Amino acid sequence: MLAGPYEAFPVDPRLPEPYFAINQGVTAHHGMVDIARVREGDVVFVSGAAGGVGSLAGQVAKALGASRVIGSAGSAAKCIYLTEVLGYDAAINYRDGRVLADLREAAPEGVDVVFDTVGGEQFEAAVQAAAPGARLALCGALSGQLDDGPGAHPRLDVMTAIAKDLVILPFTTMHTPEQLQAWNSAYGSWLAEGALIYPHTLVSGGLQAAPVVLDELLAGTHRGNVLVQVAT
Ligand SMILES: NC(=O)c1ccc[n+]([C@@H]2O[C@H](COP(=O)([O-])OP(=O)(O)OC[C@H]3O[C@@H](n4cnc5c(N)ncnc54)[C@H](OP(=O)(O)O)[C@@H]3O)[C@@H](O)[C@H]2O)c1
Repeated sequence: MLAGPYEAFPVDPRLPEPYFAINQGVTAHHGMVDIARVREGDVVFVSGAAGGVGSLAGQVAKALGASRVIGSAGSAAKCIYLTEVLGYDAAINYRDGRVLADLREAAPEGVDVVFDTVGGEQFEAAVQAAAPGARLALCGALSGQLDDGPGAHPRLDVMTAIAKDLVILPFTTMHTPEQLQAWNSAYGSWLAEGALIYPHTLVSGGLQAAPVVLDELLAGTHRGNVLVQVAT
């Protein structure tokens, strides 16, 4: 039984450490389950796949039965992390400048689900690489939130969206008791079964390190959910 929205609720005893409860999984789970409605056999593309939300979103899609999960990130090392640690089937380094070509190569039959945390050229490429009837869950807009330059804000190719019957779904996770409960229950089970790992970077240095770590987070220095350890 979950407590009210402003009350504490117990940490799932299946978590190896209490801090495993600090994560962006509610959004990853809500976006994949309730918005994109991932089903068995879907081909899924997650942008910003090494970030807090994306590093869980790809794993959630796999746990829900997606047949192929493709992620994008901003370095070759992060792409290796996606495929070798997080179980992505393919990874795209968007800094190589060939997002659409790489996406088409990774998903020759098209992408059924897009979980977009970036926007910009990655959203535009996802529309072109989408399969007929694809669902595009729009979670974030990192390219436009952090930068206002050319290409930061995507343009929708409306004719392609119409011709392919695309379903474009921007969403905000409200962290309702139902959403929290659904995620926490699935997370505990998947962790216990080994179907999912908790992708995180634990940084020491106390609260005074937090502003520096925040800058590093936005600059792409870290992977997964980034936590600052305030006390030992
Ligand atoms: N809809 C909702 O309810 C909801 C809830 C939570 C979060 N969000 C949104 O979801 C997005 C992701 O959140 P998060 O917590 O996962 O983010 P995060 O972990 O803070 O993401 C940081 C990563 O973003 C990437 N990045 C930074 N600038 C970028 C750019 N210009 N283009 C592409 N990637 C860039 C970097 O990775 P690389 O090194 O790979 O570039 C960086 O490591 C944000 O836009 C956030 O506001 C939405």
